[in-house]
Amino acid sequence: MIILDGKKVSNDIKDEIAAQVAIMKSKGEKVPHLAAVLVGTDGASMTYVGAKVKACERIGFESTLIDLPEETTEQELLSHIHNLNNNDDIDGFIVQLPLPKHIDEQKVLMAVDPDKDVDGFHPTNVGRMTLDLPSFLPATPFGILELLERYNVETSGKHVVVMGRSHIVGRPMSILMSQKRNAGNATVTVVHSRTQNLAEFTRDADIIVAAIGISEFLKGDMVKDGVVIIDVGITRVPDDTKKRGYRLAGDVDFESVSKKASFITPVPGGVGPMTIAMLLKNTLLAREMRS
Ligand code: GUN
Repeated sequence: MIILDGKKVSNDIKDEIAAQVAIMKSKGEKVPHLAAVLVGTDGASMTYVGAKVKACERIGFESTLIDLPEETTEQELLSHIHNLNNNDDIDGFIVQLPLPKHIDEQKVLMAVDPDKDVDGFHPTNVGRMTLDLPSFLPATPFGILELLERYNVETSGKHVVVMGRSHIVGRPMSILMSQKRNAGNATVTVVHSRTQNLAEFTRDADIIVAAIGISEFLKGDMVKDGVVIIDVGITRVPDDTKKRGYRLAGDVDFESVSKKASFITPVPGGVGPMTIAMLLKNTLLAREMRS
């Protein structure tokens, strides 16, 4: 069993980007500038946005954090987005999800200039991706493709089961893996909360992307020998033996599934760090597109 070490691969990617930034600097060119908008005080979102800003610093990008209170109105948020769209110094920006309930998420995402949409969530980018046109790929699926590629995991002709149909992970993952591309050409099945006899599908899978949002849902008896496991889930599970009172768990029961897997991502240290690295890659791309 081989661990798909997202932490290591993401560090390699960050080093590659940092080298490109150093070249940009030496030529006197503008370095990429990423902005992140955070609304409210959701613990996980604050952690993710903090990690994104820190990663920018590490590789030599400029970064701006727009930290807004929970009570921010939709109109106020749209006004910030308008300013970011029109700020020539900003190459790309993200609005961290989820947003507070009183804000229409789709309306907000549609207000982002598609050329600065480094999350790849705007309908224009989703459409372009679906039609095999150049676009920003959403960072988590992009990171999974990159991880599979860098470990030379064969996907062509394989049966990939994507668990979950979210706009951020499951849906784009299922589209990308069926396309003619590296880490693609797969036969894809999407299973979700309404799927009947779910384990029949997962037991047939050569590769499983678990993004269903239920901790340790996928057990060893639901997979076949040699399966490749990509675990996107990350939830806090109460654990009295830990000082902080919880541990981080994925959607996969690592203990039982890893015994049968040929490759598996750990949680943490698998998909999560890759997401950040690919966001940086998209921001570099955005800068290159604008120069
Ligand atoms: N919330 C969970 N994942 C993501 C992501 O990739 N981007 C943004 N903006 N919000 C998220």
